[in-house]
Amino acid sequence: MASNIVLAFDLYGTLLSTESIARQLGEHFPAKAQSISSLWRRYQLEYTWRLNSMDVYEPFSTVTRNALVHALAEHDETLPDDDITALMNAYDSLSTFPDVKPTLNELDAIPTVRAVVFSNGTQSMVSNSVRSSPDLAPHATVFADIVSVDGVKQFKPAPAVYLHLAERVGKAAQLEDVWLVSGNPFDVVGARSVGLNAIWVDRAGQGWIDAAVPGERPTVVVRSLEEILDVVKERV
Ligand code: LAC
Repeated sequence: MASNIVLAFDLYGTLLSTESIARQLGEHFPAKAQSISSLWRRYQLEYTWRLNSMDVYEPFSTVTRNALVHALAEHDETLPDDDITALMNAYDSLSTFPDVKPTLNELDAIPTVRAVVFSNGTQSMVSNSVRSSPDLAPHATVFADIVSVDGVKQFKPAPAVYLHLAERVGKAAQLEDVWLVSGNPFDVVGARSVGLNAIWVDRAGQGWIDAAVPGERPTVVVRSLEEILDVVKERV
């Protein structure tokens, strides 16, 4: 039986923990690693939103590198280019959240569900993470495709990137069959506002507090990624 629904997994902050880069940062700045890593992520996202607003596009790898330099400078730190490059390589091997492995194992056993990765990352960043990172590589076959926003040269949450996703998975005329799975509230709101369904992974258990567009909420909220399996099973 062919499945009607497509699960589109956000990568950074949903499958991969951007906080896990703190370990590599800790080799340079033991006392500041956590703080630099959080600020790095904040600027990475802020830059994508600013570039969208300015109608300017830079690949996510460049944005990520520039955001790192900014986060370091705010901590009165710099690193030589080689070390920056090494950190960028480490970004391809971020750790998965603990609930990812059991979820992808079980998803692999439900062949009627089509799963893809959908990310701001460039095709090469995302492919490296999915195919070479020690945590994700064993599950690479779960994903039928990798959809990068690079194809539209805008970042989430621009409507065009969600429509691009729907088109790539053959659901341009059935947007509600595309289910984004994301831990990032801004991503959830972006998907919902163009008519996709979205599961928000609320690992911190804070409940939905995002009010950027007060009328837009996740279709389903789960506390752990594993709970998406129940959502899926009800619909295949
Ligand atoms: C991504 C961003 C949201 O993976 O981190 O698309």
